[in-house]
Amino acid sequence: MRPIGIFDSGYGGLTVFREIRQAMPQYDYLYLGDNARAPYGPRSFELVYEFTLQAVRHLFDQGCPLVILACNTASAKALRTIQQRDLPRLFPPSGTDTDGLPTRRVLGVIRPTVEAVGDITHTRHIGIMATQGTVRSHTYELELAKLHPDITVTGEACPMWVPLVENYEYESDGADYFVQKNINHLLARDPLIDAIILGCTHFPLLYNKVRAYTPAHIQLMSQGEYVANSLKSYLRRHPTMEARLSQGGAARFFTTEQPDNFNDSAAIFLNHPVLAQHVTLA
Ligand code: DGL
Repeated sequence: MRPIGIFDSGYGGLTVFREIRQAMPQYDYLYLGDNARAPYGPRSFELVYEFTLQAVRHLFDQGCPLVILACNTASAKALRTIQQRDLPRLFPPSGTDTDGLPTRRVLGVIRPTVEAVGDITHTRHIGIMATQGTVRSHTYELELAKLHPDITVTGEACPMWVPLVENYEYESDGADYFVQKNINHLLARDPLIDAIILGCTHFPLLYNKVRAYTPAHIQLMSQGEYVANSLKSYLRRHPTMEARLSQGGAARFFTTEQPDNFNDSAAIFLNHPVLAQHVTLA
């Protein structure tokens, strides 16, 4: 198998995987959740980079020619270095490749989201709800400045949201408390916001709560759909990479935690039984 690898610190990337597989059911997929070391949000640049590179290498070792970092924190803190420093060194372009790119590739979730938001906001004021790591990296601001310099961005770190999802508390009263608190805080900082990016792949699990505490005129953007569309167009534009992918319609799951825990939660997120394998990353 030469599957598409999908990586997240935990369960959140399943929200992206679900949309990608729905849009492109023909490919094989390999999902890896580093649940034992989640959340990544509060961790340093160095650690997020180290953990992400370990995960990417594991997915390459399993045969994936292409890996999607279905994690904003990893996309914000590790993607550039992996793309610019590690891949050209580890997998230099082959003579038969016409695009001159490394033979293995890694893509993130921030760029496709930033591309999409320009068509969604009218006031040109947007909010980003994300982990501390993503907000403090200012990656969204940097990407927006390149594509939509007229947009004003306000980032809101939501450090309790990932633990609520990882611990299966996203429908609890505790989730109401933290979601309402962060939404109110964000909107008080910029009342002109008319679009909010759920800039963490765990957050679609909290969508109903976020919707309940956000005024109806504000659009909420979950990333899965944008990432799936962007991947589809990427594969159209890069036929050499597309030809490397196997098309058996299968999906396998790996976790650094106990597979039983992963299976139970992933089955709820995906609506079908999941049988994950344990893996140790180093
Ligand atoms: N799903 C990850 C993201 O999109 C969560 C990060 C974490 O583990 O804190 O940022």
